[in-house]
Amino acid sequence: MITESITDLDNACFDKYVKVVHNVTGITLLPNRKTMLCGRLKKRIIQLSMNSYEEYLSYIIKNDSEKDTLINLVTTNETYFYRTPRVWDFFTQRYLPENKNSINIWSAASSTGEEAYTLAVMCENFKNDNKSFDYKILGTDISSDVIDVCNNGKYNGRSIKRFQDSKPVLFDQYMKGNNESGYSVAPNIRKNITFKVHNIFSDLSGNNTFDIIFLRNVLIYFKKEDQITLLNHIKNYLHPDGFLVIGESESIVRLGTDFILHEPLIYSLK
Ligand SMILES: C[S@@+](CC[C@H](N)C(=O)[O-])C[C@H]1O[C@@H](n2cnc3c(N)ncnc32)[C@H](O)[C@@H]1O
Repeated sequence: MITESITDLDNACFDKYVKVVHNVTGITLLPNRKTMLCGRLKKRIIQLSMNSYEEYLSYIIKNDSEKDTLINLVTTNETYFYRTPRVWDFFTQRYLPENKNSINIWSAASSTGEEAYTLAVMCENFKNDNKSFDYKILGTDISSDVIDVCNNGKYNGRSIKRFQDSKPVLFDQYMKGNNESGYSVAPNIRKNITFKVHNIFSDLSGNNTFDIIFLRNVLIYFKKEDQITLLNHIKNYLHPDGFLVIGESESIVRLGTDFILHEPLIYSLK
């Protein structure tokens, strides 16, 4: 029987969720996220014919596979093509021309893949005039749902609007499709991108060092000490001359890590 009425989430139970979510994702849910959490968990609780947030929490703790569902529910996956144009100006006008051979890029916390595919379009466009240039892009995210979207690679609406409006020539050249069925980047570009589920606090399998890492709009979900832990971890994957790119509402200058400001949103290693 489907139960529509669920007991309210009290503060003690919310605190337990905060701990579990932190353990599983590194995300710190602040008290003002309680209503958001209730809204996101409710549908799942009803689907499981449960009566309370407490009951669902026990279920998560006992069932490892449910942790994946929890991750998909609690992560915020807002993203779109060509997000923060100043970063793309840096990447295309200065970064790529100075690195003409081959580059390895990591879009960490890629969400549904728009950042990785924007990178691919920019690299491919650069490659047109620099035939010896080569690139590989890895996109990773902790949410399996968003990695499914990445692998499907079809986009429309708000996800592509800024790119379509501000870079119409590039858009028409590299994005194939239409408004009804959606657009995907041209198949010859997709072969340079790999997506996989990965928690950024964990080790990345394989022998990976990246020339540039995009870690945008995810640090905001972590508390200060976790941001420091993460940056100390991420630096192991960055080439000594590489760059780390963060999000517009983020700053890491005061965290005392080995990253130093190169220019707004772009960091290098000491
Ligand atoms: C707001 S999106 C940012 C997407 C993209 N980087 C951008 O700036 O447009 C944040 C993403 O971080 C992911 N995320 C949160 N915690 C993570 C973790 N521990 N490991 C990997 N990804 C994580 C979420 O699943 C979500 O897709």
